[in-house]
Order: sequence, then C-alpha cells, then structure tokens
Amino acid sequence: MAELDITRLNQIIADHRDQKWPLIPLLQAIQQEFGYIPSEAIEPIARALGLFPSQVQGVITFYTQLYTTPRGRNIVRVCRGTACHVRGGKTILKLAKQHLGIEEGETTPDFEYTLETVACIGVCALAPNIVIGSQTFGHMNPKKVAQLFSRKSGG
Ligand code: FES
Repeated sequence: MAELDITRLNQIIADHRDQKWPLIPLLQAIQQEFGYIPSEAIEPIARALGLFPSQVQGVITFYTQLYTTPRGRNIVRVCRGTACHVRGGKTILKLAKQHLGIEEGETTPDFEYTLETVACIGVCALAPNIVIGSQTFGHMNPKKVAQLFSRKSGG
C-alpha cells in the first residue's frame, strides 16, 4: 500500500471545513481518495472542524459504509439471505474463504479481494449468489467458486 499522501489529505480537509455539515462529506471524500479513512486523518479532521478525535472516531464507527482499514480492489460479497442459505450459501462462503485464504471481513495481503457477506440481494431465483464488485454470479457451486478465484488459487 502506498504511503499516505498527507498533502492531499490536508487539501481535502481544507476543501470541506467551511461547509455547513462537513464531517460526513469530508469522511466520504477521504474514503473515496484513499479507499478508507486512515487513522492519521482523524486528528487533523477533528482539529479542522473543532471536534474531539473521539467524536470523529464515533461517527466513523457508526457508519458501516466508512472503513478504517484498506480494502481490496474487488469486494466479494457472499449472500447470506435465506434462499441462498438453504441452497448451500454456507458452503459457498466456506469455499470463498478457502480460495482467498481470508476470513469474512478480511482483505487479502495483496489488496486484491475483501470478503464480506450481504443480506438478500434480491435475485433469490439464482441462489446461491456471490457478488464481486457490481457483478452478480448466480447458481454458485464449488466448481464455479473455484473458477471465479482461479487467478488466486492458480497463482
Ligand atoms: S437470499 Fe440470496 S439473493 Fe435472496
């Protein structure tokens, strides 16, 4: 992961500090730029907005869409909705973990993949489903999971 660009960080903070409700848009802008909210950003954000660092941290913790650790370029979401679950979603998740070598909520060391689960994504007819980025892969089975991550397991 590249060094944090502090100049860019300060610039984003400066761009937002005079807005009326700056904190959430500022955090979103930082995440968009860096892919997550680096811990080094919390102190300067708090200072610029006249908040305590604990308040900034509290907001980050509250919003599940804000991340404090770097995430993978591809977000893999295994559906844990009922239809997917009864059609083998649990096995699909287990296989995804094995292929990627990470647990749910973790990111591969090369930052290629982050593995998550997600509630029903609305295409139960295709269960069990995996979503990678914005693409949905339905009717998953062990062979298809292996194919999806063959680049990983094949080196
Ligand atoms: S339960 Fe997985 S898509 Fe609905």
